[in-house]
Amino acid sequence: MTTILRGRNIGVTFGKFQAVRDVDLDIETGHVHSIIGPNGAGKTTLFNVLSGRQRLTAGRIAIDETDVTAQPEHLRSRIGMARSFQINSLFWTFSVLENMRLAVQARDYRIARSVLRSDADRSEEVSVATSLCVSIGLGDQLHAVVDHLSHGQQRRLEIGLALASKPRLLLLDEPTSGMGVDDLPAMASLIRSLKRDGYTVVLVEHNMNLVMNLSDRITVMHQGRVLAGGSPAEISSDGRVREAYLGKGLDRA
Ligand SMILES: Nc1ncnc2c1ncn2[C@@H]1O[C@H](COP(=O)(O)OP(=O)(O)OP(=O)(O)O)[C@@H](O)[C@H]1O
Ligand SMILES: [Mg+2]
Repeated sequence: MTTILRGRNIGVTFGKFQAVRDVDLDIETGHVHSIIGPNGAGKTTLFNVLSGRQRLTAGRIAIDETDVTAQPEHLRSRIGMARSFQINSLFWTFSVLENMRLAVQARDYRIARSVLRSDADRSEEVSVATSLCVSIGLGDQLHAVVDHLSHGQQRRLEIGLALASKPRLLLLDEPTSGMGVDDLPAMASLIRSLKRDGYTVVLVEHNMNLVMNLSDRITVMHQGRVLAGGSPAEISSDGRVREAYLGKGLDRA
């Protein structure tokens, strides 16, 4: 087992408020590693620290033993980390394939910036983009305008756009939020296929069913700290975790 991402003593303060404190986190290569916890536990803040969007006020983060603590998001992406795009970054009036082609084009700065971009480059982009669309289950929607997709399809496209940068470590923040039950199975199977394809996935997610079914490891946050860590079986039988969810029961959190 190799550790792709290692966080030590991570802390984030907003003014005097400590949103995240003393968090240690080891993400193993090839794992789906979920971060869960009640509202306000610090999950999104921690997620943003991992991606490089949020500056930490204490601690260190390393990817493959390389210290990236001071690196902004775009530099972390060069060493293989990507976060799913936010839904508002999609081009609504463009087709699925066009959105994906732009993401593929953006990953290769040399080609994207070259005035000499050839027809061969373009057709290579289209072919890579097409297979990415197929891999996220949108192969039959290539020419659909993004605005006409279901919410679940749009959220899968966000993940697909992140895949265009060829990451090894993919960060997903609430991929099922706002999604109807009809779209859940497709998202679950996409995450499962990412794992099968060798991606390491960090998942912040409220849907406990999904978390318990897909995760190799779970880190539970509560009031900015790590409350517990372990396998889904260990976490679901942990009394402290149940208590943190105020007796709601993990299945209804
Ligand atoms: N930019 C900010 N400035 C001040 N306080 C913040 C900021 N961002 C987050 N917080 C606070 O930090 C705490 C943790 O917030 P965070 O969004 O990380 O929680 P979360 O676990 O993602 O919650 P949720 O499940 O509701 O998404 C909360 O009390 C929140 O109000
Ligand atoms: Mg959050």
